[in-house]
Amino acid sequence: MTSHHTPSRPHTPAIDQEKCTGCALCLSVCPDRTLSMRDGKAVVSGDRCMACAHCRAVCPSQAITLPDLEQEISFKTFTVDNTYLPPGQGDTSQLVRIMLSRRSCRSYKKNSVDPQLLEDLVRIGTTAPSGTNSQGWTFTILPQRPAVETFGNLVGACFAKLNRQAANPLLRNLLSMLGKPALANYYHRYHKTIALGLREWEEQGIDRLFHGAPAAIIVGSRPGTSCGKEDALLATQNILLAAHTMGLGTCLIGFAVAAMARSPKIQRTLNIPDDETIHAVIALGYPAEVYQRFTGRKVVTPRCFEAITKIRHPGEGRGPDLAELQSNTGSESCSARLPPASAGMTGKSF
Ligand SMILES: Cc1cc2nc3c(=O)[nH]c(=O)nc-3n(C[C@H](O)[C@H](O)[C@H](O)COP(=O)(O)O)c2cc1C
Ligand code: SF4
Ligand code: SF4
Repeated sequence: MTSHHTPSRPHTPAIDQEKCTGCALCLSVCPDRTLSMRDGKAVVSGDRCMACAHCRAVCPSQAITLPDLEQEISFKTFTVDNTYLPPGQGDTSQLVRIMLSRRSCRSYKKNSVDPQLLEDLVRIGTTAPSGTNSQGWTFTILPQRPAVETFGNLVGACFAKLNRQAANPLLRNLLSMLGKPALANYYHRYHKTIALGLREWEEQGIDRLFHGAPAAIIVGSRPGTSCGKEDALLATQNILLAAHTMGLGTCLIGFAVAAMARSPKIQRTLNIPDDETIHAVIALGYPAEVYQRFTGRKVVTPRCFEAITKIRHPGEGRGPDLAELQSNTGSESCSARLPPASAGMTGKSF
C-alpha cells in the first residue's frame, strides 16, 4: 500500500493511494480544506486538520485512516448498531418521546449504579458536537453515594459561608451601593431556602441538594477549549437523554456548579485539576418517582426572518419598497408569508 500522510501532525488522515478512486468526496466534506487532488488522487495538502474524520466517514473506498482515533466507540452495557443512519431514517417520534419523557429526578432509590453504566454514559456524552472538534470536555464520575455526600458537604459549606455573608445587611447594602447587587439579590432569592436546606441536611439528613442521588457525573472543560461551556452542555444533554433510556433518573445541580465556581477547594478535593472549568453537575440514580404523563412546555413564538432579495429604495424601479417592508415588520407570521418577490422581518408566531 502506498499512502499519503504527513506524520508531523497528529491525527492527520493517511490516504491509501491504491484504494483512492479520485471521487473527491472527502474534499467536499473537509471543513479545514486539508485535502486536495493530485494526479487524480486525494492527498493531504493543508496545514490544518481538526481530526473530525468526516473524510474517513464519507470515503466509499475506505481509503482513509486516522491514526489514534477510535472509529467505533464501544459500550460495555449495551450494543449499538454501528451502521451509519442516513438523514431521514431515524425514528423522530421515538426520539422526541424520549426527550419529552426525561424528567429532573428529585427522589432516588438507594440502589447504586453500575460503574460501567456511568462510563458508558460518559462515552455517550462524547458523541456530541464540539467547537473546532476540540473535544476538550472532562468527566468526573462519583460512582457511590459517599462520594456524592462528600461533594454535598463541600457545596453545603460554601453556601453556609455565603449565607452568613448575605445575612449581613451592612455588607449587602455597601456592595449594592458600589454597583454590586449580587449578594443582595442572592439574599432575597435564596437565603431563606438555603438556610432551611442546610438545617434539614444537618438535623435530619434530608438531601435537598443532590436529592439523595447515589451517583453523579461532573462535566467540565480543559483550559483553552474554544467553546468549553457549549461542548460540555451538549455532552450533558446526551447523557441526560441516554440515562433516561437506561432507566436512570437525572437532575442537573446548578447549585453545585455555582459553589465550585466560588470555592476552588471543592474541585481540588474531588481531584479535579484547578485549571478545568466545571459546567454541569448531573445527579444520577434509579428514580423513586413515577410520572404518568409529559409536563408540557411554555408556548414559544419563534421570530422568522426571510432573506431580503432586492429592496427598492425610494425612486428606484421594480421590487419591494423599503418603507412597505418596514411597515410589515412584526405584523406577519411565517405561515402567512409575504408574496415571494418581497421579504422582510416578521415577528409573530407560526
Ligand atoms: C442549568 C440548570 C441548573 C439546574 N439546577 C438545578 C438544581 O440545582 N437543583 C434542582 O433540583 N434542579 C435543577 N435543575 C433542573 C430544573 O429545575 C428542571 O430542568 C426544570 O424545572 C424543568 O424540569 P424537567 O428537567 O423535568 O423538564 C437545573 C436545570 C438546569 C438546566
Ligand atoms: S473519498 Fe476516498 S476514494 Fe474519494 S477521493 Fe477521497 S480518498 Fe479517494
Ligand atoms: S479529518 Fe476532517 S479536517 Fe482532517 S482532513 Fe479529514 S475532513 Fe479534513
